[in-house]
Order: sequence, then C-alpha cells, then structure tokens
Amino acid sequence: MNEDPTRTDMERWIISNLNPAPSTTAELMYERMESQSGRCLPVLYEPLDHTKRSHWHDEALIGAFAHALDDASAILDVGPGDGWPALRIADRFKKIIGIDPSPRRVRVQRENAERLGIDNVEFLVMDAEEITFKDGSFGAVTAASSIEQCGNPEKALQEVFRVLAPGGTLAMIFEDYDSCLGAGEGDEKLRSELTSKEAVVFYQVRRKSPPRETWYALFLDRERLNADPEFLEAVENINETPLELEGTPGDDGSALRSETFGVTLLAGFAPLVADTKYFELNHLTSGTVDELLARVGFTDIRHLDHRMPELLAFFDAAQSAGKLGPDGPVLDVVAEVFGISAVERAGEGPGDFVIARKPG
Ligand SMILES: C[S@@+](CC[C@H](N)C(=O)[O-])C[C@H]1O[C@@H](n2cnc3c(N)ncnc32)[C@H](O)[C@@H]1O
Repeated sequence: MNEDPTRTDMERWIISNLNPAPSTTAELMYERMESQSGRCLPVLYEPLDHTKRSHWHDEALIGAFAHALDDASAILDVGPGDGWPALRIADRFKKIIGIDPSPRRVRVQRENAERLGIDNVEFLVMDAEEITFKDGSFGAVTAASSIEQCGNPEKALQEVFRVLAPGGTLAMIFEDYDSCLGAGEGDEKLRSELTSKEAVVFYQVRRKSPPRETWYALFLDRERLNADPEFLEAVENINETPLELEGTPGDDGSALRSETFGVTLLAGFAPLVADTKYFELNHLTSGTVDELLARVGFTDIRHLDHRMPELLAFFDAAQSAGKLGPDGPVLDVVAEVFGISAVERAGEGPGDFVIARKPG
C-alpha cells in the first residue's frame, strides 16, 4: 500500500507503524450503528406525514423502485440498512429477500419487519460479493446506496447479474462520487468515537482521482486511555477535524497541515493503539457506472435523478401556496405518480438512480 504515491503522510505513517488489517464498511461502519438511518425513515419509524418534504421524497423513490421492478415476484434487496427499500415495497411483491453482511443490520431489519407486521420479507447475513443463491433466482434486484459500499463493486454487480433471471431488472441508487467531493481533489478527516467500553479514532481519506475512499480505525486501549486524562481529552477533541491535503496553501500562503492534527498527533496515540483496521472503497461516478454495468453484461441502462427535483419543486410550490393543509394533495398518490413518471422518462445518464436489464 505504501508504494502508492497518492497516499497521504498520515496513511503512510499508519501503514508503516500500525500494520492495519483489511476490513469492510459492514464491520467498521454499519455494524457499529444501532440505526443506519437515524430512525427517521417514514413508515419504518414514523407515520407518513404529508407536511414533511423528506416523506414526499421517500414515497416517490418507493414508487420509482416499485414501478421499475414491474411485476417481478421474487426480489433481492442488497444492503437494506434499516430495511429500506425492502420493507417499504413489501406490500406490492410476493417475496423479498434482503442481504447484508452486517449481523447487527440484519437484526435491526428483522426487528423492523416484525414491528411492522411484515412477513413476506426475509433478511439474511450475506455479502453481495458472495451471494449463495442459484443463478436466475430473482426477477428483480434493488440496491440503494449499497453497491459502492462493497469492497469490490464489480464483483457485487457480477453476483447480482448472476442471480437475476434472464430479462430481470436491477434498480439501484448510487452515491455519485463526483458530486460528493465537489470541485476539490479530496479531503481528510479525523473523528473519534467513545463509548464506555471503546475508544476508536477514525482517519478518513477521500480522493477524486481515482475515486477512492479509505478509512483507518485505530482501536485504543480504553483502560489505559481512562488512566490518562490528557490523552482522553485529546481524543475527545479531535471530532470531525477537517484536514487540508498536504501542500494545499492556507490564506497566508503556508501549507495548512498542522502538526496538531497530523502524524505527530497519531504518533502520540500510538502507544495506546491496541488494534488497527482499514477499509477501502472504489467509488462509482456517473462516468463509470454505465461502463461497469455494461462490462458485467447489463443492457437497456437508464438513469434518473434520485433527488426527484420535479417532485420537490411541486412540494415547495404547494407549501408556499398554503396547499399542504389537511385537505392538501394526497401524498402517497401524488408522490408515487412523480416516481412512476421519473422512471418512465429515465434515459441516458447522468443520474444516480440507474435501471438496467439482464438480457432475456
Ligand atoms: C448506506 S447503507 C444503505 C442502506 C439502505 N439501502 C438505505 O438506502 O437506506 C449501505 C448498506 O449496505 C450494506 N453493505 C455494505 N457492504 C455490503 C456488501 N458487501 N454486501 C451487501 N451489503 C453491504 C451495509 O451494511 C448497509 O446496510
């Protein structure tokens, strides 16, 4: 890893001194969250409320997914998080199986299904890169913000392609990494997570070219940290500290890399580090996603904008005209129509909601 010239000083230091072991987003991120969505998803966590913009958006996306999947009977949902979209589309399809490599996510997905009284959705601990179902098992696959969370998105898409029946549909939302990083080349962040049992320092590096994100998790010895109030305070104080990339000039023309947050800080923590892990993601961009889908074998690739701008403009206009009162538009009907229409109008890229077909 250290031969890679795009690595930052802090990465080089971690790689040389802490011998990080390879891990995954499922282990280092999703396994660590009780709710992946912050418990704010409509229907899953709160009643559908037609005065909330986010609920209109959610309903439109569900309408779009359901319409894109057509009349498939068996559906695979890759990486459902808290159960989305699997649990939201459950009443429209016969059988849905959600797969997620994080056992904690699967526990939450099952709890949500039970609480909502949904019994045609099954959640399994399984990695999209190693799906254990037979070829052609599913009429359609959904994947919302999950393919790019796999260590090898191409392998995950090959598996999705394999388990799709001929003529089957993939409907996926992906994080377009080009828009994610804005105009700059990338960024670095330090963040700490402290619980009564654990103290972890995360160092995150995001780069545009190639579109790649790496996270290092430094697990500190909690007991030794407790015994050292000065270090404890230093760890508490590094939350969300943005770092400028090496060599980026500051307002005064000097390089902005501050030793307070650089290698010196990490070296200070080193004696307390009990274990270090990392994961690396190769992100998708609107420029690469079609290439990748075509290489895997998908055809009829169509895009739409997952932000649903027309629907949100409609919501804003209705709200400012005072039309969202108790007799206002019926959210589930109107939002769904916007979702269906977005799928009907889907065409060539760009767009971060992609629909593709396995040739029949
Ligand atoms: C950003 S969340 C999206 C959750 C949900 N689909 C949504 O849109 O709210 C990413 C999800 O992908 C899952 N994931 C990560 N790696 C995966 C893999 N290799 N195979 C399948 N799912 C994976 C994570 O555990 C997590 O549940």
